[in-house]
Amino acid sequence: MTKPHVLQVGAYPEWDQVPLDAAFQMHRYFEAADKPAFLAQVGPQIEAIATRGDLGAKADMIAACPNLKLISVYGVGYDAVDLDACRARGITVTNTPDVLTDDCADLAVAMMLAGSRGLIGASDWVRSGAWAAKGSYPLQRRVSGARAGILGMGRIGAAIAKRLEGFGMDIAYSARRAKDAPYSFIPDPVALAARSDFLFVTAIANAETRHIVNGDVIAALGPNGMLINISRAANIDEPALLDALESGSLGSAALDVFEAEPNLNPRFLALSNVLLQPHHASATHQTRAAMGALMRGNLTAHFAGQPLPSPVL
Ligand code: 8YV
Repeated sequence: MTKPHVLQVGAYPEWDQVPLDAAFQMHRYFEAADKPAFLAQVGPQIEAIATRGDLGAKADMIAACPNLKLISVYGVGYDAVDLDACRARGITVTNTPDVLTDDCADLAVAMMLAGSRGLIGASDWVRSGAWAAKGSYPLQRRVSGARAGILGMGRIGAAIAKRLEGFGMDIAYSARRAKDAPYSFIPDPVALAARSDFLFVTAIANAETRHIVNGDVIAALGPNGMLINISRAANIDEPALLDALESGSLGSAALDVFEAEPNLNPRFLALSNVLLQPHHASATHQTRAAMGALMRGNLTAHFAGQPLPSPVL
């Protein structure tokens, strides 16, 4: 039996690659030296694309695959997929929600704690011998009982809020509409930032949320505020963020995502008031295994003519 042809945009762990190769004819785009030539050669055979949240599928890739019916994303965010091109052609898009919610919330809270308690600097203090030479590490900032704002109260925002309840934090959120949640609903992001010590960005990235954290929001968070982003870089005006971190008009930031990642703006590297993470909120063995299973499950269901486990478009 001939296997369905699938375009693979990026690398997956071995535990996904082996079953993918067994079930489908995988065409490895990421290994091709001449990508346009590779697309021109395999495109007409391709019925599905398997991609990752960070890689998506651009318009030229979709256009090169005239028989494409499904794009299966390994990741909850599908903003890197050209959705207009998919809508125009009736191409279905699936993602991997729910299975990564807890890990993303865990990392967001870990970043808040690590940033506010200075864990990285404190570790260096011990390793460098500064503890013995200079004495105690400088005092840090208390988290428990502080005011938290959550921008985007979806699955991940709600999971963060649940964790913050354990720290006795005063929690508020912005979203398109009020949720059935025991937290203060503050629709205006500037007003949310103004009453927050810690502002978590968890919003989906789309045209509506692009730069939702703008210069005004950053200014409202202020010199004692911390911005934590585990969503997408596009949700923040990055040059405005860098200006504010450099001038001290924003206290600090903890970031898992960057414009042009993994080649982030070198201005970040010169700052001591920012905690930098390599886009790994969902990166545990357990969650990546579940994401892979769901990404493959969508492909399998599609080719078996069965209902898709997690369609988004
Ligand atoms: C992954 C993500 O880093 O879920 C998302 O939207 O960005 C992440 O979980 C990515 O999809 C894996 O490469």
